Amino acid sequence: MTKEAGTGRSQIIRRNSKMQKTILVTGGAGYIGSHTCIELLDAGYKVVVADNLSNSKSDSLSRIEELTGKEIQFHLTDLRSTNACRELFRKEMIDAVIHFAGLKAVGESTEIPLAYYQNNIGATTNLLEAMQEFGCKNVVFSSSATVYGAPDNSPLTEEAPLTAVNPYGRTKLFIERMLQDLAAANPEWNISVLRYFNPVGAHSSGEIGEDPRGIPNNLMPYITKVAVGELEELPVFGSDYDTPDGTCIRDYIHVVDLARGHISALKKLEENPGLMVHNLGTGQGYSVLDMIHAFESASDRKLNYRITDRRPGDAPAVFSDPGKAERELGWKALLGIDDMCRDAWNWQQKNPAGY
Ligand code: NAD
Ligand code: WQD
Repeated sequence: MTKEAGTGRSQIIRRNSKMQKTILVTGGAGYIGSHTCIELLDAGYKVVVADNLSNSKSDSLSRIEELTGKEIQFHLTDLRSTNACRELFRKEMIDAVIHFAGLKAVGESTEIPLAYYQNNIGATTNLLEAMQEFGCKNVVFSSSATVYGAPDNSPLTEEAPLTAVNPYGRTKLFIERMLQDLAAANPEWNISVLRYFNPVGAHSSGEIGEDPRGIPNNLMPYITKVAVGELEELPVFGSDYDTPDGTCIRDYIHVVDLARGHISALKKLEENPGLMVHNLGTGQGYSVLDMIHAFESASDRKLNYRITDRRPGDAPAVFSDPGKAERELGWKALLGIDDMCRDAWNWQQKNPAGY
C-alpha cells in the first residue's frame, strides 16, 4: 500500500515535471526581471536566471524565493561571452527565454555607446546563437517605447514609425530588426517583442522594487528618493510644453502589470505565432505634475519640487494604444496610478538604501 502510494506520487511528479516549462530569464535579478520571476513562479514555471549583476544584486532573487517559497536556479553569467551563453543551454533544459539583460540609461548611452552596443546588441546576438545551436527558439524580448523616438502624436500603435534618437534607442531598434530577420529566415522561431512604456511601482509586499545605482534617471525613483529625504528636490523638466498643465505626459505602467504581460506573451508563443510585436502600456497619459500629486496623496506628504529647464530630447506626450496586446494576448493593465505610487513608496520606505 505504502509502495503503491509512493509509486503513484512519483508518477504524478514525473508528469508534472514534464509539463512544467523552464524559462531562462536573462537580467532576472534586475527591476523588471525580478517582478517577472515572481509571476513566472506563481504561474508554475521553473525559473533559471542568468545575470552578471552589473546593475542588480542577487538579494532580489533570495527575496523572491522567500516570497514564493520556490527555488530559482541562478547563473552568474555575462552574456557578452559566447561560451557563457552556450554553457547555460548545456546545463539547463530551457523551453523559452525572456531576455531582459542589457543596459538601459539613455544619458549614459551617449557617453559610452560601445558598452551599449556590446551589452545589448552583442549579448543578444550571443544569446540567440546559443538558442539556435541548442534548438530553443522561443524568446520574449524587452523592447521599449524608445523605438518610437520622440513622436509628434500619441496614442502610439505598433504601426507608428520607428526611429532612434540616442544610442540606447538604436540598440533596441537594431535588435528588433535582427529578430525580424531571424524570424523571416527561420519560421521555427517564435518571438515576442514587447515595447514597454514607463514601468514604475513595486511588488505589493515591498520586498522587491527598483534599486537604481546613484542618482536616478527616471521620474518615479527620483520622486521616492526626494520623499525619503535622500535627495533634496525633484527637478521638473519644463512646464511650458503644449500639454494641459505644461509638463510632459507619459504612459506609466505598474511593473507587476508589465510582468504579467510576459506570461501572456509566453503563453501565446506556444501557438507558434512567428514574430509578434506588442505595446505594453495602460493607454492612459499622466503629466509630471499628475504623478507628483498622486504620489503626495499616496504618501500623505508634500514633495519638494522645482520647475527647471526642459531636458533635451523629451517629447511633450508619449502614450500607448495598448489595444493589440489586449486583442491578441488577452492582456490588459489592471493597476492604476494610485497603486503605482503606493507600491513605489512602500518599497522605498521599507528599503531606504535599496537591497
Ligand atoms: P535593470 O538594469 O534593472 O535589469 C537589467 C539586468 O540585466 C540587470 O540585473 C543587469 O545586471 C543585467 N545585465 C546587464 N548587462 C548584462 C550582461 N551583459 N550579461 C548579463 N546580465 C546583464 O533594468 P530593467 O529596468 O529591469 O530593464 C530590463 C529590460 O527592459 C532592459 O532590456 C531595458 O532596456 C528594458 N526596458 C526598461 C525600461 C525601464 O524604464 N526600466 C523601459 C523599457 C525597456
Ligand atoms: C518621465 C517624465 C521627464 C526625471 C525613459 C527612456 C525610455 C524608457 C523609459 C527604457 C519626463 C520627467 C524625469 C526628473 C522630470 N526606458 N522627469 N524630472 O524619458 O519618458 O523614458 O524611461 O527603455 O526609453 O527614455 O522616462 O522617467 O526619465 O521621465 O521632470 O528628474 O518625467 O522630463 O517627462 P522617459 P523618465
